[in-house]
Amino acid sequence: MAEKTVEQYYLPPPKVGRWEGFRTFLWNSETHQFLGRTGASWAKILLFYVLFYASLTGFFFAMLAIFYQTIDLDIPKWQLDESLIGSNPGLGFRPMPPEENVESTLIWYNQKDDNWKYWTNQLDVFLKEYTEENPNRVHCDFGEEAPPGKICDVDITSFHNCTSATEFGYARAQPCIFLKLNKIFNWRPTYYNATSGVAEGMPKELKSLVHNVTNADSRKDYVWVSCEGENPADVENMGDLEYIPAQGFASYYFPFRNTKGYLSPLVAIRFVRPKTGVLINIECKAWAKNIFHDRAERRGSVHFELMVD
Ligand SMILES: *[C@@H]1O[C@H](CO)[C@@H](O)[C@H](O)[C@H]1NC(C)=O
Ligand SMILES: *[C@@H]1O[C@H](CO)[C@@H](O)[C@H](O)[C@H]1NC(C)=O
Ligand SMILES: *[C@@H]1O[C@H](CO)[C@@H](O)[C@H](O)[C@H]1NC(C)=O
Repeated sequence: MAEKTVEQYYLPPPKVGRWEGFRTFLWNSETHQFLGRTGASWAKILLFYVLFYASLTGFFFAMLAIFYQTIDLDIPKWQLDESLIGSNPGLGFRPMPPEENVESTLIWYNQKDDNWKYWTNQLDVFLKEYTEENPNRVHCDFGEEAPPGKICDVDITSFHNCTSATEFGYARAQPCIFLKLNKIFNWRPTYYNATSGVAEGMPKELKSLVHNVTNADSRKDYVWVSCEGENPADVENMGDLEYIPAQGFASYYFPFRNTKGYLSPLVAIRFVRPKTGVLINIECKAWAKNIFHDRAERRGSVHFELMVD
């Protein structure tokens, strides 16, 4: 008997067709529910999400604002040894081979064809910023550093025989290659001088030059540069070099502080009489007491090949 009363509680939902069921789901006129919720319920849920995302957005921007408080757009937060790039600058050369072969360090051209134009164009593009007018740039000399907020000019028009007007020597098989030291914020070179002695591995000629220059004028400090053929055959094929405007980067260009319009100092090396038709391996090194040479890591030195046909 009890079983019968239980049965009365169970009422199966009225059988409706699929379409009918869906239409009721969309709009149930009995309960005034749209998609299963009443208007008030929808309003609450909408309000909840609006508030939720608004506070999420607010939180994000608050965090971003706090983050921006801790950084300066002109000064790196992590400097020198604390930074990933460290405090040992690399050396770079221009012109660079075409981008298709990123691994290539070969500067090859045929003097008689016009294909040296590629290299001189590359140099023109690279040197473009050096020719632009900038009121921030002042003329500097040893003992005449740039005042704060100003930067020292790099006068590429004084790079005799390595100027655009002379095709950087490419048309005459006396090509110029430009070297630059990678910029490291606030990095100060420790200079070699006559009294403090010079490095072990420094080429003899450079040792003598450092001695002569710093002895004659103790203010004349440079991050010195030397380029050499890598093998005895390369030394012979390379012939003499000229360093323009000097065999190093003058001290008044350092340190780099991201001042607007800063120009990296340049040293152009001019091959006076390279042997034609052979590949010449060249390694250039920058010299300061706090530059260590590591070829694999590309620190303090650079390697490239030259071939003039
Ligand atoms: C430019 O090159 C020519 C020919 O090699 C040479 O005679 C002259 O001295 C060079 N000029 C400078 C300023 O080095
Ligand atoms: C340094 O000076 C000495 C003596 O005057 C001279 O013989 C030598 O050639 C100079 N070295 C360089 C690299 O100019
Ligand atoms: C040479 O360098 C040392 C240390 O780098 C410095 O103390 C000294 O004053 C320098 N000498 C000259 C003549 O500049």
